[in-house]
Amino acid sequence: MTKPLPPLRAVLFDAYGTLFDVHSVALRADALFAGYGMRLSQIWRDKQVEYSRLVTTCNDGAHYQPFWALTEAALSYAIDAILLVAEKSMNTMTSGQFDLKNASARDFKASAMAQLMNEYRHLSAYPENRAVLQGLKDRGLKTGILSNGDAQMLDIAVRSAGLADVLDHVISVDTVRRYKTHPAAYALGPQTLGLKVNEIGFVSSNSWDALAATWYGYRTLWVNRGGMPFDTLGTPPTHVGQSLTDITQFFGETA
Ligand code: LAC
Repeated sequence: MTKPLPPLRAVLFDAYGTLFDVHSVALRADALFAGYGMRLSQIWRDKQVEYSRLVTTCNDGAHYQPFWALTEAALSYAIDAILLVAEKSMNTMTSGQFDLKNASARDFKASAMAQLMNEYRHLSAYPENRAVLQGLKDRGLKTGILSNGDAQMLDIAVRSAGLADVLDHVISVDTVRRYKTHPAAYALGPQTLGLKVNEIGFVSSNSWDALAATWYGYRTLWVNRGGMPFDTLGTPPTHVGQSLTDITQFFGETA
């Protein structure tokens, strides 16, 4: 017999990909690297997540860098990768033009990085965010972000999306210098809210994040924005939805 769940008291949200559209940089990336914008954006995101795992799992966190620095390093990699691919395919770029041995190519890369990092600072927010967060507050629940992002980047993203007044907490893993999926990162939720983990809902569009939060003990909603399969490691999230409005599934749970 399964134990009855306590009432849901709070909902925490992942930030990047869940509240903010990380691929909203693709348009600017495409203006800089014609035809390669989305590919660059995908390599950038994958590398950013990979770096966060690398610095968390190696040498007990000795190589930790804040998420903004990892994001910049990942962008540098993504641009190098795209330039190599583009040069090989000779699609839209002229041979040698983007050889980073040339000063003009290095200037171009530096300028592209500055423009794209600035885009990342002000990512588009998904349109349903505000109403969903307000709806939770109207029900008397606490709301918050639990993100790998550092405090400064989260603060700018939250303010530029106009969400500051509907979020009770903005929790950054930077305080423990361990990125999700490390348990010390997920532990910040119950610690900050003063609640048991199973009184908290956790919402992420990243399958790995929804899975790890489920393993940690949260009640989870995976927002499958990309129409992709869930990770195949044998544990499903508590709920699956298409957008944040599917958060209502938390309220249909049998208590
Ligand atoms: C976040 C990234 C990983 O924690 O999506 O916000």
